[in-house]
Parts: sequence; C-alpha cells; structure tokens
Amino acid sequence: MNLLSANNLSHTFEYKLFSDVALELNSGETIAIIGMSGSGKSTLLHILSTLLTQDEGSVSLFGEDIEKMSKKRLGEIKRHDLGLIFQSHYLFNGFSAYENLEVSEILSQSKIDEILLERLKIQEVIHNRVTKLSGGQQQRVSIARVMTKQPKIIFADEPTGNLDNKTADEVMELFFEYCRDKNAGMILVTHDENLAHKCQKVYKLEDRKLQQLQ
Ligand SMILES: Nc1ncnc2c1ncn2[C@@H]1O[C@H](COP(=O)(O)OP(=O)(O)OP(=O)(O)O)[C@@H](O)[C@H]1O
Ligand SMILES: [Mg+2]
Repeated sequence: MNLLSANNLSHTFEYKLFSDVALELNSGETIAIIGMSGSGKSTLLHILSTLLTQDEGSVSLFGEDIEKMSKKRLGEIKRHDLGLIFQSHYLFNGFSAYENLEVSEILSQSKIDEILLERLKIQEVIHNRVTKLSGGQQQRVSIARVMTKQPKIIFADEPTGNLDNKTADEVMELFFEYCRDKNAGMILVTHDENLAHKCQKVYKLEDRKLQQLQ
C-alpha cells in the first residue's frame, strides 16, 4: 500500500533548495535521505510531514493530497498516523518525561508500552522533569512519545544524533523492527552513510535534486 507520494516538489528560501523532487513510500518500506548540511533535507522532511507547504508540486498521504484535505482530516492524520522525530525535540519542559508520554497516550488513544521504555533505557529517569534529563535521554523520550502512538509513517531527522554508537544502533534497530512488525514506513534523514544503507532505499539531495543511490 502506498503511504506517501510526492511529485515535482520544489522549495526556495533565500536560494532554491531543490526542484523536481519525487518520492514514494510504501508500507513496510524504509527510506534514507542523505546530503550535505544546508542542502535542504530537513526542509524536505518538513514538507513531506505536513509541517511546511512546498512552493510547487504535491504530497499525498494514504492516497489523499494534503492540500485538498480538510483541516479536520489533516489533524486526524497528524495525530494518529504520523510520527515526527526531529533534530530538536518538542517535549513539554515543565512536565516529567512520563507526563509527556501520557499526553501522547491521551491524544492518540494508545497505551504507553513499558517494554519500549525498557528498550530505550529510560525507565529509570522517566519520572524526572524533562529539563533534568541529558540531551540523549530527552531524545529517547521523544522517540518513546512518538512510538507510543504507533504511527503508520515515521519521519526521523537525525534521530540518534545525540546518542553514543551502541545506543544509536539499538534505537535504530527498534525503528526497523517496528516498521517490519507493523508494516509501517520510515523516512530517515541522516549524515551517517552506514546507517542510511540499512534502509531499503537511499536518496541523496545534491545539486538541488533528489537522486536515488540504492
Ligand atoms: N524557515 C526558514 N526560513 C528561511 N530559511 C530557512 C528556513 N529553514 C531552513 N532555511 C534555510 O534553508 C537551507 C536548508 O536548510 P535545512 O535545514 O533544510 O538543511 P539540512 O539539509 O537539513 O541541513 P543539516 O544537515 O545541517 O541539518 C539552509 O540554508 C537554511 O538556512
Ligand atoms: Mg537538517
């Protein structure tokens, strides 16, 4: 089943970042996007995940064009089906890590998975305030928060950037396993080429084009 389909995307900020970008994501598929710093990877991920509107082209999620969706439908899809893990996390700082997960639990009506907390090795700090956690712990809490809602598509922008190699590998294994088990899709932006090549498809954003390498 097609989860996401992007056609003819282009976007410009101070300069043209990319044009003519096309991408398809199917159930169970994992895609990596690599490219130099400043090439527009995060911008592209923001467009694909409905956070930003492209200058040209279209993005469809589950067969529906985002620009033609009602606000209500788009809100439902964002709440239930899309999991966004970005370079900077968006946890509520005044809350504990666990309270952040509870917010997600309520919004998406799915249960916090204790095994997930164990695998992310955050069960010991889960009741601490977000501001008391290390950067890597905060990153793992934001991953737990996103996984709690069991999204159909994971958008991950350098999700393991703050983690040591071993923890990063374990966290990535969790994502890959999740996609296999739930038949979900993932679009991963990373600077780590080894990690990128663990995805089924690899694209590179270079010279304002998105080219498929693998
Ligand atoms: N909201 C914005 N307004 C204006 N310019 C922006 C905005 N967001 C990004 N840019 C610019 O667009 C370019 C691409 O940024 P982007 O964050 O997409 O790059 P990236 O490939 O993700 O880089 P990195 O690997 O460093 O994360 C940069 O020059 C950046 O300054
Ligand atoms: Mg980026």
